[in-house]
Order: sequence, then structure tokens, then C-alpha cells
Amino acid sequence: MASDSSASPPRSPSLLTKEAYWSSFYTDEQHTYESSGNEGEEWFEGQVDNIVEWLVNDLIGPSRAPTLSVLDVGMGNGLFLARLVDEGFTNLHGIDYAESAVQFARRLMEDRRGDWPDGVSVRFDRLDVLACEEELRAVLREGGYSLVHDKGTFDVMWMRGQAGDDSAIEGYLRFLDCAVAAEGLFVVTSCNCTDEELQATFGGSFEHVSSLAHPSLAFGGQTGQVVSTVAFKRRQTD
Ligand SMILES: C[S@@+](CC[C@H](N)C(=O)[O-])C[C@H]1O[C@@H](n2cnc3c(N)ncnc32)[C@H](O)[C@@H]1O
Repeated sequence: MASDSSASPPRSPSLLTKEAYWSSFYTDEQHTYESSGNEGEEWFEGQVDNIVEWLVNDLIGPSRAPTLSVLDVGMGNGLFLARLVDEGFTNLHGIDYAESAVQFARRLMEDRRGDWPDGVSVRFDRLDVLACEEELRAVLREGGYSLVHDKGTFDVMWMRGQAGDDSAIEGYLRFLDCAVAAEGLFVVTSCNCTDEELQATFGGSFEHVSSLAHPSLAFGGQTGQVVSTVAFKRRQTD
């Protein structure tokens, strides 16, 4: 649920802001996969079909999918990128700071690769989005990606901000500067920020392109949007 940063006192950073939490999360997912074949959890699972349909049909256009380079930020088990392969994308890169996520995503892709057409390239690397610029540039595509996608990872930076540490949001903005190509798209889905908060955060270097309306929940007599998905385009610099 969206939080009101002006009204809430700073909270302790949640477990979800800890690398150790995600490391053990994806280690467990891989154990489950090896024993039962269950591929694991995708964040905002109930909204993912809508996000993919909107991304492909409204934002990009299906014919452009094979031509775009895509980066998924904090890809976890990598299932979102597997969905994009099914939609015709061919040039995909996932990064995550949890080594176990990278290992598991690679494992799942190896098992799926046989069903994919020739020419599909999917890569996973360990990278902390808050690393220094030199480390970021060593892993990220030179010149950036045509589409940078984030589902649930910016939320981790936002939670740190809510706990009084703005350095993660500032670091994330520096990361985007290295990651998004000139006039590239950045698409973010969050359950902690409202559409307005996302626009206020990214509006400096990016212009708002479109927002996806998700069904909202009524709670305590108030209606609020639970999940926000917003697309931005990198502003041209002179
Ligand atoms: C809420 S999960 C979302 C996973 C995936 N995007 C999905 O939609 O299922 C957040 C992910 O962000 C990763 N993450 C958190 N902080 C990160 C950081 N500083 N750098 C890279 N990845 C990070 C976590 O390891 C985790 O995989």
C-alpha cells in the first residue's frame, strides 16, 4: 500500500532491504525448484500479465520488441525476462546483487533455452545498483539499454528512504544515468510509491510517458491504488 512519507515517522529498514534476506530467499527458491519443479514467485504476479501486455502493445509496439535491448533491474529468478522472450524480445540482461538469484535465474534459463528461437540472448550478472560508476559500467551495456525495467527493486530503495537513508534513492538515480540509453524508456512498478511519488522522484531526468492503471482496493472506507506502474522516457540533453 502506498505510504505517505510526509506523515509517517521514519521506520527501521525492513528485512526486504537486506541482501542476506534476498540471498536466502533465492537459495530457498532454487531448492524448491530442484525438488518439485516449482519455478518460484514473481513479484506482483497478479499484475504481470497486464504489465507485459501494456508494455508490448501500448508502449513499444510488438514489431519493435526484437530490436530493443532490455535490462531488468533486480531480476530475482528472471521469470519476467522469460516472459519477454515469449513476446519476441531477443536481447535481454538481468542484474541482481544476490548471487543466489543470479545462479537460480541462470539455471531456470538453461532449462527453458531449448524452447526458444535462435538468436535469443539472455544474460544474468551480479551487480549492486548502488555500486560505484566504474563497477556499473563494467557490467552494463555501453551506451545503455533501450528499455530498463524494474518490478519491486526500486521499492527497496524507497523503503531505505522511508527509514531516513536517502542515499539509496540518490544512488539509484545515478545508476539509471548509466543504464538508460539516450531517449530510452524506464518502466517501474512499485507497491510503496504512488504514481505521483514516482513522477516526483524520476521527473528530473525523465519525462512521464504513461501510467498503467491497476485495480484499486477499498480499505477502511478509502480507495487507494495498491500497485503503480509508470513509464518514463529519458530527456534529451543538449
Ligand atoms: C521485490 S524483489 C523483485 C524481484 C523481481 N524483479 C520480480 O519482479 O520478481 C527485489 C529484488 O531486488 C534485488 N535487489 C535489492 N536491492 C538491490 C541492489 N541494491 N542491487 C541489485 N539488486 C537488488 C533483490 O535481490 C531482489 O531480487
